[in-house]
Amino acid sequence: MFNLILFGPPGSGKGTQSEKIVDRFGLIHLSTGNLLRQEIHDRTPLGLEAKNIMDKGQLVPDEVVIGMIDTCLEKHPEAKGFLFDGFPRTIAQAEALDKLLSLKKTFIRKVISLEVTEEELVKRLLKRGETSGRSDDTDETVIRKRFNVYKAETEQVAGYYENQAKLERIQGEGTVEDIFQKVSGCIETEMEKQQ
Ligand code: AP5
Ligand code: MG
Repeated sequence: MFNLILFGPPGSGKGTQSEKIVDRFGLIHLSTGNLLRQEIHDRTPLGLEAKNIMDKGQLVPDEVVIGMIDTCLEKHPEAKGFLFDGFPRTIAQAEALDKLLSLKKTFIRKVISLEVTEEELVKRLLKRGETSGRSDDTDETVIRKRFNVYKAETEQVAGYYENQAKLERIQGEGTVEDIFQKVSGCIETEMEKQQ
């Protein structure tokens, strides 16, 4: 199995690059943001609870997202590998993921962090907010809150993987295609090591 994490602040291009990675490398895409938005769309009790939190730009409780990831891993026993997008976002989530994967006799191979300046991130998210229907994109206060939460709780997850020598930082500004070239180069290098 080849398991990859795409890491980075809100708006850094995780979702955009994930689609291309999944197409080229055949991994299963697990985005906790997308899974939560599906729960909201389906009006489940979990979705109703999550909406309140997401609209404020805060993080949904660890046990909720870890449970969702566990369920998805179970659903795909034959997967060639998983691409985690927007997860893990706290050290507790990273530790839980390591445990879940080790129960399946597998592990994280690489963590790619997309590096983008805050000015560019705000621009991208406000622009997306014009059409996305995502309520956490339309209000700049909520966008700033998401960045603050990222700095306070998520940024340190990069250090967690740096300590395991798995982190690769990639400049996330430029065209989507140029960034994808760099991302896929990094994945190919890592995959070659497997053989
Ligand atoms: P989530 O859905 O994960 O959102 P996010 O991390 O805030 O990131 P985004 O999806 O906004 O950005 P992205 O990096 O995917 O960028 P994208 O490709 O879309 O989380 C939402 C909420 O759910 C959280 O706030 C939290 O409440 C909750 N949640 C989710 N996971 C959780 C977890 N694990 N624990 C707890 N709570 C959790 O690109 C952004 C825009 O930029 C797009 O319009 C795109 O077209 C554009 N763009 C992309 N690349 C480029 C480029 N190279 N140049 C110009 N524009 C570009
Ligand atoms: Mg996303």
